[in-house]
Amino acid sequence: MEKRQELYAGKAKSVFATDDPDYLVLHFRDDTSAFDGERMESLARKGMVNNRFNAFIMEKLAEAGIPTHFEKRLSDTESLVKRLEMIPVECVVRNVAAGSLVKRLGVTEGQSLTPPTFELFLKNDAQHDPMINESLAETFGWATPEQLAEMKTLTFRVNEVLKRLFAEGGLLLVDYKLEFGLFKGEIVLGDEFSPDGCRLWDAETREKLDKDRFRQGLGGVIEAYEEVGRRIGIGFD
Ligand code: TMP
Ligand code: ASP
Repeated sequence: MEKRQELYAGKAKSVFATDDPDYLVLHFRDDTSAFDGERMESLARKGMVNNRFNAFIMEKLAEAGIPTHFEKRLSDTESLVKRLEMIPVECVVRNVAAGSLVKRLGVTEGQSLTPPTFELFLKNDAQHDPMINESLAETFGWATPEQLAEMKTLTFRVNEVLKRLFAEGGLLLVDYKLEFGLFKGEIVLGDEFSPDGCRLWDAETREKLDKDRFRQGLGGVIEAYEEVGRRIGIGFD
């Protein structure tokens, strides 16, 4: 498949057309953003690390029967994906309290959440990705009730697969965000799964090994992503 013109540049990835209208090329850049793009920095190796990380996770999810847009990794920083019509709703599952949940509810960071929670956010940087619900999504036409139900089911299925995978590497999957889209009418997992869009802690020490290292200025961001990858069997050479 031939790469064609750039269609869109997001905060961390750029999207290119191909000669097949059903497929796109995702280019994972080194750019790193936090606080809805308020803070941007380029971190060497990040594009390569996240591209490989995402490919590994998407393959695991596909093996578990979850429909994803991922086709194959094309190079260090590029992957071929199905072209989805994206749904502008972010699905977040939390196994442990952290981040905006702690701020919003005043609960204790690190508190285990049983059962895990499910939240929806609108993908809209200008409005700082506000929390929404099924009613708002339906009324404003962001997603239908049927689509939301399917997204919720798939997001919890991802939890079962990934909690186990990370636990085998001595890691706690604290929370994560997924984005979905439609491919020929079917709900399919899109975007990426990498330490940019989830929280991962060392299961013993609870050391943060995800983008919170960048958000909180802890340093060693990419080293932490690579450490996580190494523990679950990803090679980065
Ligand atoms: P939060 O605690 O900021 O609501 O985020 C929950 C999880 O979802 C965390 O792992 C970060 C991820 N997330 C994103 O990556 N991008 C987003 O826009 C949102 C709302 C969450
Ligand atoms: N993904 C959002 C951003 O890049 C939010 C965050 O990660 O803090 O700005």
